[in-house]
Formats: sequence, structure tokens, C-alpha cells
Amino acid sequence: MGSSFQRTVSIFLACFLCFTQISPISCGEKVSLTLYYESLCPYCSNFIVNYLPKVFKNGLIDVVDLKLVPWGNTKIQANNTFKCQHGKAECFLDTVEACAIDAWPDLNEHFPFIYCVESLVYHKNYTQWETCFEKLNLKAKLVKDCVGSGRGKELELRYAAETNALQPPHKYVPWVVVDGQPLYDEYMDFISYICKAYKGAPVPGCSSTVNVIKMGRKFTPFCLMHTATSKLSTIGSAITSWMNRVNLAASA
Ligand SMILES: *[C@@H]1O[C@H](CO)[C@@H](O)[C@H](O)[C@H]1NC(C)=O
Ligand SMILES: *[C@@H]1O[C@H](CO)[C@@H](O)[C@H](O)[C@H]1NC(C)=O
Repeated sequence: MGSSFQRTVSIFLACFLCFTQISPISCGEKVSLTLYYESLCPYCSNFIVNYLPKVFKNGLIDVVDLKLVPWGNTKIQANNTFKCQHGKAECFLDTVEACAIDAWPDLNEHFPFIYCVESLVYHKNYTQWETCFEKLNLKAKLVKDCVGSGRGKELELRYAAETNALQPPHKYVPWVVVDGQPLYDEYMDFISYICKAYKGAPVPGCSSTVNVIKMGRKFTPFCLMHTATSKLSTIGSAITSWMNRVNLAASA
């Protein structure tokens, strides 16, 4: 009751602000940014830890509707169990992250938790994931009960359906979609795409040339799906050898 009342009030306030032009945000002008990912893909943790937080700077988040979808290249097997690209630990952490989003629907609450877990993944320390509850002063029970009950699986099945319904279908992760359009291998330039899609009053985050990052990348890193065509496999093995060189290879 209380929270739905609060939501109604905040929707009313947001609309009031947009109609009165007090705030630069207008109703319906937010740009959607959706990240389809899996918890142990090293390129996903790199993106979440080193790139995605830019969306919280310079007022950008006020015009962005950020959604995280932790499923990625996971498959549902005939016996209704999940097969994750990086093994059982990945299925587990995907569910933990889905449960965190469910427990704390506010991005300002679940993003720090997912950022914390993915930082541990990035530093090859993810077995310490539970330390994120203490660090952020969040109640572990909400997430643990969800993971331990059917709730976690139910949430993951929803993310599976959402991922599998993507048009065009995702080819790898991280798969970043801005305003319904996948960014393919230019996902690291997501801010530029957000600013291109944004039609509202100017926000500082879009006026800065700092955000127009064009890096001279030789390889765009991503985790390919298993159902790769031979051409994609070639790219995949090139990436794998590059991964090994930079010592980023995931323990599958
Ligand atoms: C489900 O199927 C997979 C692959 O066929 C098998 O490895 C796994 O042990 C099965 N799990 C259960 C709980 O039956
Ligand atoms: C990460 O792992 C190292 C050992 O490999 C450990 O000393 C350190 O405390 C861990 N960090 C966190 C945040 O748990």
C-alpha cells in the first residue's frame, strides 16, 4: 500500500515537473538502455565495472531507463535445468543478481549490489559475493530466500523469455540495446547512442564531448553463443587467444 502510494506520488511529481518545465525531464522522453548479460562473462563484468557507471554521471541517469537482464547465453535443457556458458557458478550468480533486482527494484539499490558482485568477478574473487551485502548494508535474507526458493528460477525463466524474444536475436554478450536498437560491437560507445536517441531538453551528460568515446580497438570483446557459425567460431577463437594473452580467460 505505502510503496504503491509513493509510486503514484512520484509519477505524479515527475509529470508535474515535466509539464511545468521545472525539470529538464519530460514524460516519455527517457531513453531505454538494456543490458543483456551473464554474470561470469569477463566482458560483461568489464562493461558493468568500467563502462556502465558512466551513465550515473552528469545527470544522464535522469533521462535513461536502465534495465539489467542477467541471463545471456544460458540454455534451458530438456529436463528444465539451466546450462550456463561459464558453468554452475554462473547460473547461481545470475540468479543472485535476478533476485537482487527483484528484492530492490530501485536501480539505485540493486545496481550497487550488482556492481559489487561484478567487481569481484572482474577481480576473480566472486566466491566472496556475500561480502557485498555487508559492504552495502543490504539484507542478505531477501536475496538468499529468493535464490533458495522457486522464486529465483521463476525470475530467471522470465529473463530467458525476454532474452529469447529479442529482435534481432542477440549474438553474444554483453548485448546492449538502446531505444530498441542493439549496438552490436559498438556497445562501449553506449553513451553516444543514448545522446543520439535522446530528444528532450539538454542534459550535461550529452553536451560533453568527453562522452563521445571512439577507441581504436582491434578486437571488440564479447562472449559468443555456443551456436556459433564457422565464421563466428573463427572470430571466437581469435578472441579466446587474445583473452588468454591478456589473462582474462574465464574458467568455464
Ligand atoms: C538435466 O540434463 C542435463 C543434460 O542432459 C544433465 O547433465 C543433468 O544432470 C540433468 N539434471 C537433472 C536434475 O536431471
Ligand atoms: C579477494 O581475494 C583475495 C585472495 O585471492 C583476498 O585476499 C581478498 O580479501 C579478496 N577480496 C575480497 C573483496 O573479498
